[in-house]
Amino acid sequence: MTTLSEHDQQTADFYENEFDEHLAVKSSPFNNWGYWKTNTEDAAQAGRNLVLETLKHANITSQSRVLNVGCGFGVETIEIASCTPCKSIVGIDISQKQIEFANSQLSHYKSDVAQKIVFQKMSATDLQFEDESFDCVIAIDCVIHFSTRETFFKEAKRVLKPGGHLMVADHLHARQAEDEVDKLFLARAAKMRNLPEENNQNLEAYQNLLTQLGFQVHQALSIKDHVFPGAFNYFLSPKYLSVYAEHLGEKRANIERVQAVSYQQFYEKGYLDYGIFSAQKP
Ligand SMILES: C[S@@+](CC[C@H](N)C(=O)[O-])C[C@H]1O[C@@H](n2cnc3c(N)ncnc32)[C@H](O)[C@@H]1O
Repeated sequence: MTTLSEHDQQTADFYENEFDEHLAVKSSPFNNWGYWKTNTEDAAQAGRNLVLETLKHANITSQSRVLNVGCGFGVETIEIASCTPCKSIVGIDISQKQIEFANSQLSHYKSDVAQKIVFQKMSATDLQFEDESFDCVIAIDCVIHFSTRETFFKEAKRVLKPGGHLMVADHLHARQAEDEVDKLFLARAAKMRNLPEENNQNLEAYQNLLTQLGFQVHQALSIKDHVFPGAFNYFLSPKYLSVYAEHLGEKRANIERVQAVSYQQFYEKGYLDYGIFSAQKP
């Protein structure tokens, strides 16, 4: 039985209230912001693109044991098991509901993919694995929630074998807002999503933290222009807002719309960034 910290329990409650299987089935089974190209048709494709972009330098072989933290509804883990030759993959998340949904999905997939996968409820900042258990740790669109990023990076380093890879896609703070109203709005939005203040880092600070903790950083790349414009178009589309309203009510869908418009402005003002990182344990 996994006992979560107060912070993790609050995050799990947020995800269980806001993003349940209703949204996963009707909107996109990926719960990430997506990597949008000119020909990307929908959020599911953008979500899959982000997974593939994050994996580009992962060096996963048929001998690789992989850990996928913050796996959400599990589709990401299933995608990694399908598109790489990995030997095995463990998907972990703090949300019991998401782990149950992930397990229910396995029967839809071929047994050679499904049998490589195990889902477990667990926090990325308190990994219940022996030292040097994995060849690759993958974290997509979740590390900003962790209390803290540093604790997770230390845990990732501990469970990676020497030479193992850490692959991350994550939200960044490009710079602090100057405008007081913007500052207030960003702080409220962060509180609502239960994001620790210590995680307000820009690309350079993120890369420095990984280096200080003893990783060799091979890639630290901003992909914000492939993430935000496409994601905002999607969040403001009638299709997404109607699924949201059906799920959480008109009032909540309106708040979502106002938030998306504000975030779009914050992106345009240069406050937001999004990075892909590839780091290796020496
Ligand atoms: C934005 S969702 C992304 C889910 C998935 N990676 C995807 O892209 O579809 C963030 C996920 O991180 C999970 N999460 C947050 N804090 C966590 C922690 N400390 N350990 C493991 N998972 C966590 C949440 O429950 C949620 O499922």
